[in-house]
Amino acid sequence: MATINENYLKLKAGYLFPEIARRVRVFLEENPDTSSRLIRCGIGDVTEPLPQAAIQAMKAATDELGNRETFRGYGPEQGYDFLREAIAANDYQARGIEISADEIFISDGSKCDAANILDIFGADNRIAISDPVYPVYVDTNVMAGHTGPADESGAYAGLKYLPCTPENGFVAEPPDEPVDIAYLCFPNNPTGAVATREQLQKWVDYARANRTILFFDAAYGDYISDPAIPRSIYEIEGARECAIEFRSFSKNGGFTGVRCALTVVPQTVQGYTKDGEAVALHPLWLRRSTTKFNGVSYPVQRAAEALYSDEGKAEVQALIAHYMGNARILREAAQQCGLQVWGGVHAPYIWIQAPGGLSSWEVFDRMLNEANVVITPGSGFGRRGEGFFRVSAFNSRANVEEVARRLSSMNW
Ligand code: MLT
Repeated sequence: MATINENYLKLKAGYLFPEIARRVRVFLEENPDTSSRLIRCGIGDVTEPLPQAAIQAMKAATDELGNRETFRGYGPEQGYDFLREAIAANDYQARGIEISADEIFISDGSKCDAANILDIFGADNRIAISDPVYPVYVDTNVMAGHTGPADESGAYAGLKYLPCTPENGFVAEPPDEPVDIAYLCFPNNPTGAVATREQLQKWVDYARANRTILFFDAAYGDYISDPAIPRSIYEIEGARECAIEFRSFSKNGGFTGVRCALTVVPQTVQGYTKDGEAVALHPLWLRRSTTKFNGVSYPVQRAAEALYSDEGKAEVQALIAHYMGNARILREAAQQCGLQVWGGVHAPYIWIQAPGGLSSWEVFDRMLNEANVVITPGSGFGRRGEGFFRVSAFNSRANVEEVARRLSSMNW
């Protein structure tokens, strides 16, 4: 008899985005004539074509694979040096941050890495997670057996939830008790909040004092336009001792369908055995990567490298300017409707308070039925997301302008 991982039975409903897709499918089956009017501002999926620099690099790399002299088979599991060096030089060293190429691991996505990183940690760690939060952090800990069951509000026993509310600007303070692992995501998904240098310094100081590991998700880092706001946790003094950072080419280079991301594990970051012996995490993650992963395809890594060429950088900036222009239009439209709005300034997400005491799913239904616009219900990101909804700015300009018009014509 094959037994199952019963932790999966603790999970609430489906994963958020497939659940939204399912509800939209049902709506379209019942209302087929709305299908051409439907605008999707739910999942944060890019809509604009790939940068030409990436396309050309991918084509050239594919041609290399079609030629006996330049053919390549398996690459290094942790990524080709050409890409790791481009990342180290541009994302870190050019900004005065001490991260070297061999501390960078290339992967096919930050979602996968944020889940897989749990492989190298023990099962008994006390884990702190913001609420609301990108649901992957919670669900993967449930799957790994790091929690008890969920209560009626959806909160899992054993997790330390850190409330993110309008009062704290959706930036959690370190808890008043020690935890072993804490997830931070800035710019934040779903609220669009950013953390100041001082706020991140508090986290790093806390982590060093408590031997906590910070998982810092910087997937939206390039959307920060204010140089005073850190884009990387390693801009903070001491972070090399306590932080692992996840970055992605999905949202800056438009790679959601191409798949390429990276995880930084500094040589200096350590975990502990049960007996308190310090162990470097870098060799553990390398061992995990080389055993369970065969790397990202060569053409994709060449495409990612091309994002760091002069042409690639300009194209990435243009993509970000496009989505942030959308964010401004959505933010202003929602504000003009008298709604309370956060985010959309250094992040491609607008976080809105549901008016009139509506629940998040009630707003989802109203937006779908009355405006034919798909949004993400805040409650899908956790208990404290209830009463909010998220609008994604990843769309064409024409669609965003239409969403703004439809928002304004609704009776809020
Ligand atoms: C989101 O909509 O929250 C993101 O697209 C999800 C992801 O990046 O996996």
